[in-house]
Amino acid sequence: MKKYIIFLILISASLFFNSCKYDFILPEEVPVIEPGGDPISFESQIAPIFSTGNKCTACHKTGGFASPDLSNSATVYSQIVPKYVDLASPASSKIYTYSTSGTHNNLKVSATQSVLLLQWIKEGAKNN
Ligand code: HEC
Repeated sequence: MKKYIIFLILISASLFFNSCKYDFILPEEVPVIEPGGDPISFESQIAPIFSTGNKCTACHKTGGFASPDLSNSATVYSQIVPKYVDLASPASSKIYTYSTSGTHNNLKVSATQSVLLLQWIKEGAKNN
């Protein structure tokens, strides 16, 4: 009888410990911007935010109904700067607020992309 109880306890314990499965959702690691670090590159780090993955160009395309045109790599810079950047108050730049607030068509760029975008504007929104 005693063996039977121990056996039962072991079975229930193993059921108990196996019943919970934890899926940890790790927060996205955002880049830390070091003072004096490499400047953000518009061409390789900023332009792709709009042209790949974030669906911006579904509407913001050449001949599309929404401006700015974010789909043409040759003109995307002049479409954004200076009209949609605010060098005096980078976080108020329209290109930043529209990309990061989540209120524009429920779209939100990744946390990493927001950091890069803001830093690029702080660095003077250069065409580099
Ligand atoms: C479903 C279509 C659609 C998508 C997708 C979309 N937009 Fe827009 N966007 C619009 C429309 C329509 C307007 C004009 C109305 C407004 O200001 O909301 C606009 C306006 C803007 C403006 C301001 C224009 C102005 O003159 O004030 C910016 C900046 C902008 N979008 C950036 C983006 C970015 C960046 C993305 C991707 C993260 C994006 N949009 C995705 C349709 C879209």
